[in-house]
Amino acid sequence: TGHFTFDPGYTSTGSCESKITYIDGDAGVLLYRGIPIEELAEHSDFPETCYLLLNGELPTAAQKTKFERDITMHTMVHEQLATFYRGFRRDAHPMAVMCGVVGALSAFYHDSTDIHDPEQRKIASYRLIAKMPTIAAMAYKYSVGQPFMYPKNSLKYAENFLHMCFAVPCEEYVVSPTLAKAMDRIFVLHADHEQNASTSTVRLAGSSGANPFACIAAGIASLWGPAHGGANEAVLKMLDEIGHKSRIPEFVRRAKDKNDTFRLMGFGHRVYKNFDPRAKVMRQTCYEVLNELGVHDDRLELAMELEKLALEDDYFVEKKLYPNVDFYSGIILKAMGFPVSMFTALFAVARTVGWVSQWNEMIEDEGQKIGRPRQLYTGTDRRPYVPLTARG
Ligand code: CMC
Repeated sequence: TGHFTFDPGYTSTGSCESKITYIDGDAGVLLYRGIPIEELAEHSDFPETCYLLLNGELPTAAQKTKFERDITMHTMVHEQLATFYRGFRRDAHPMAVMCGVVGALSAFYHDSTDIHDPEQRKIASYRLIAKMPTIAAMAYKYSVGQPFMYPKNSLKYAENFLHMCFAVPCEEYVVSPTLAKAMDRIFVLHADHEQNASTSTVRLAGSSGANPFACIAAGIASLWGPAHGGANEAVLKMLDEIGHKSRIPEFVRRAKDKNDTFRLMGFGHRVYKNFDPRAKVMRQTCYEVLNELGVHDDRLELAMELEKLALEDDYFVEKKLYPNVDFYSGIILKAMGFPVSMFTALFAVARTVGWVSQWNEMIEDEGQKIGRPRQLYTGTDRRPYVPLTARG
């Protein structure tokens, strides 16, 4: 009963008003608060981009300094949280650990869970942005059996993250500026993407009044899937499976075959029907990182060849399937030394600011209602209960 539009996958349903991110999928345009992603990737940095997404404007020099100081004040996690990690198996997927640990933050930071208090919301937002790299790095350290590294607040955000992941207490570790820049750029490129599955999940969870830590944990769960944040992991697996250039046509053929469930990972997007603007920056960053590290990765050549063949193929042209942001990011992250299982965790670190900005925008929206989609019931008609003794 009742009238509603049936729209599975919400392909034509706008769920909210937003002033944060604009995408023109046909033209391949992505703007954060009006500023093109390419310009931010080239000239800005992640903390500044966070400020922009949260506040709507680029910071002045003084605002930027203060913001970075405010964030670094929250980089450590409660000491007791470390014991929480020890309850996990060492071979747990970092995203499984992240879902648990981030959800548990609300058990540690009671003083920033009142969603109606703007000051508490601000502190929760800063805490999430600041602690996420620490939490992800701890998940990594735990998985390799190394001691957790405390954050170093003299370092910049991305640099600090690399330090927490790759430094060990017994040795001096200096983060390469090229790698720090690449990490920062990857964070900028992933910071927000309007109403994608995980952001919509955060909004939906938050629409009931749930606390921000619980909402972001919900976002992390949604991001984990291979059709969303898990795609760069899937790209690398796919490139390994293809193995050699000579096998590319076979995989392209499989991707086109309706009877085969195989898809070209890192290709296609719900909104972009053109080159994903982030993919172009990512490809450039990929060259820079591999050059700096002196790494030769056959996968890069394989990826370029695959991209070329797919872009020339009628099926991909007609369906407007272009490489998306995840197509190259896996190759960069692998070269930097991250295991494949950490890729989506890094995406979660970057996307936290987007989730938090969207969550705040929703709470401040006076017209906001609890998210409650309808359904088309296709089950059996009304029927009587049959007692156990009478069932055949
Ligand atoms: N390889 C082969 N065919 C594809 C692909 C692909 N990667 N993507 C879409 N198609 C086909 C699909 O079979 C369908 O064909 P038809 O109309 O004949 O049934 C048509 O293109 C439209 O696809 P869809 O699944 O209806 O489109 P969607 O908007 O629901 O899905 C997508 C978007 C990203 C889930 C999908 O393109 C996909 O599975 N891509 C591979 C996974 C991937 O790279 N995901 C990362 C997304 S970007 C990062 C992020 O947002 O997290």
